[in-house]
Amino acid sequence: MSRFRVVVASEAGFCWGVERALEIAREAVLTAQAPVDTLGPLIHNPGVTLELAEQGIGLSPDEAGKTAGTAIIRSHGVPREVIESLEGRGVAVIDATCSFVKSAQTKAARLREQGYQVVVLGEPDHPEVLGIRSYAGPDSMTVQGPEDLPEDLDGRRVGVVVQTTQSPARLAALTAALAPRVRELRVYNTICSATERRQEAAIAMAVEADTVLVVGGRASANTARLAELCAQVQPRTYHIESADEIDPGWLDLVEVVGVTAGASTPAVQIERVVERLRELGS
Ligand code: F3S
Repeated sequence: MSRFRVVVASEAGFCWGVERALEIAREAVLTAQAPVDTLGPLIHNPGVTLELAEQGIGLSPDEAGKTAGTAIIRSHGVPREVIESLEGRGVAVIDATCSFVKSAQTKAARLREQGYQVVVLGEPDHPEVLGIRSYAGPDSMTVQGPEDLPEDLDGRRVGVVVQTTQSPARLAALTAALAPRVRELRVYNTICSATERRQEAAIAMAVEADTVLVVGGRASANTARLAELCAQVQPRTYHIESADEIDPGWLDLVEVVGVTAGASTPAVQIERVVERLRELGS
């Protein structure tokens, strides 16, 4: 069995916004009108969803299925029409949208009011992006990079907002491509500081490591972005949801195994991964 050292990124796991959303949900189950459900999983972590269910916090897949009691809006927000529809049907709404996401929504609305064509840099189908788009107006668009920019933007006034979990490098590439083409460009960097710090810490860790494990839900956008960034530095990067998925073959002939985790990954899951690595030879 090979012997190796484990290095955990200096910033990994739960962010401020996720901690706050969980606190709001736990408080709501004690005080709010029952039944209390989150609209979609509160965070993209199956273990946490199960734990919340045990505490009496249910899961409603969409607003149409929620007809009574209280709906908790998760940290990455929802389209404004969803809140209007719930309230219109008498459902109490507790909004746990993270303030970084709120800021992106507000800035998108401001750009729209000021007559800019709004471009959202992000994943087109991600709930956070769909929420931001509802504030950006019907003619807004989502792009994942310069390759998605349509020709008819040329000569227009364009405003950019960014999904909070995108990387600064992607934003830099987009603005560099847009600036020479448009008449006026206004860019709001709405990447959240927790995301930026995690990405920087992950890259610093990956530079040192021979194998990198990125821990977090497969549906978690920020975990996927961490895995993508680490893979650029260390191709032997593996995105896992739990310690059980570690393949001992990944650890052959390595000296340093790096570990990081997305903003929706509880500390206990990171600890289990480190513990499993210890069993396997750290
Ligand atoms: Fe908010 Fe950033 Fe976390 S947007 S939910 S603090 S990853």
